[in-house]
Amino acid sequence: MIVSKAPLVLKLAGEHAVVYGRTAIACAIDRYVRATLRSRGDDKIVLKFRDLREEYRRERTSSFFRYVNECIRLIEEIHGEKLKGIEIELDIDKDVNPGAGLGTSAAACVATLAALCKYLNISDNIAELAYQVELRVQGRASRMDSYTSALGGITIVRRGTVERAHIDTSWLRIGIILLRKLRSTRELVKHVADLRSREPELIDEIFNLIERISLRILEALERRDVEKLGKLVTRCHWLLNMLEVVDYRSNRIVIELLNNTNVAGAKISGAGYGGAILFILRDNLDSLELKELEVIHNSNAFKILCPVRISDGGVEVLERGY
Ligand code: MEV
Repeated sequence: MIVSKAPLVLKLAGEHAVVYGRTAIACAIDRYVRATLRSRGDDKIVLKFRDLREEYRRERTSSFFRYVNECIRLIEEIHGEKLKGIEIELDIDKDVNPGAGLGTSAAACVATLAALCKYLNISDNIAELAYQVELRVQGRASRMDSYTSALGGITIVRRGTVERAHIDTSWLRIGIILLRKLRSTRELVKHVADLRSREPELIDEIFNLIERISLRILEALERRDVEKLGKLVTRCHWLLNMLEVVDYRSNRIVIELLNNTNVAGAKISGAGYGGAILFILRDNLDSLELKELEVIHNSNAFKILCPVRISDGGVEVLERGY
């Protein structure tokens, strides 16, 4: 049996602007997608999604399954002979459901590919393969999620490349509130493209500001300046509002969070209109009593992850024998 786990991904700054070549900052978090691969007694690859309590065969095409299926197809294309006649069962288990804006699909691809490559004794660039899978399934993707999940830690995304920033973030405590997503990433990316075609100079200025914030976030992280970091992510949130990708619920939650004395800053993370909202906890605070927040009390939020830490490691493969 081979077990691999790939961290989920949070965006600290740079969403949308990154699509137009500006710098974005992402990080891997200590919530994971796990892939378990076992040998079977027949010639099938069977995929299981534990939390959905269903078993999918290769032919099935549920949206999350498509990513995992495409991973197998890609490996078949590149290393066909190695997959011939193999008998495995692949089980995918995740801390957070897909569509939350935490890069679940990318992490599932990274975990699946890492387990498969280990099983087949292939050494390949897992992050790049996962990116290629996302591209095939979605038609359009950035390397931000797949590379960050594979590499771990804090990453700097710039003009299609992703590099790791070597910053100690063991002091950092983040909270995440997950909201139902009301619009797809594809729609929101298109909305911003439409805005830009109408007002290119104005929108480019917003992208430039977002990029400057991304760079300052790196400085704040290096200096362990939680107050500065909080202010910067919050500014990024208001700039995302100027791109019209933030819904009313998210703004209400961000405002409530900012009124809490234990929160240094908050922003949406990802394309917008629901998904993840991150907040930075002030020094020496391990968690936050969120029940006191009225919006959350009114159960607009459907999941709270707190505290969340940066996962220093990226994808990991544990071999447990067959
Ligand atoms: C989505 O998480 C982030 C966007 O910038 C899209 C992308 O980078 O592919 C909106």
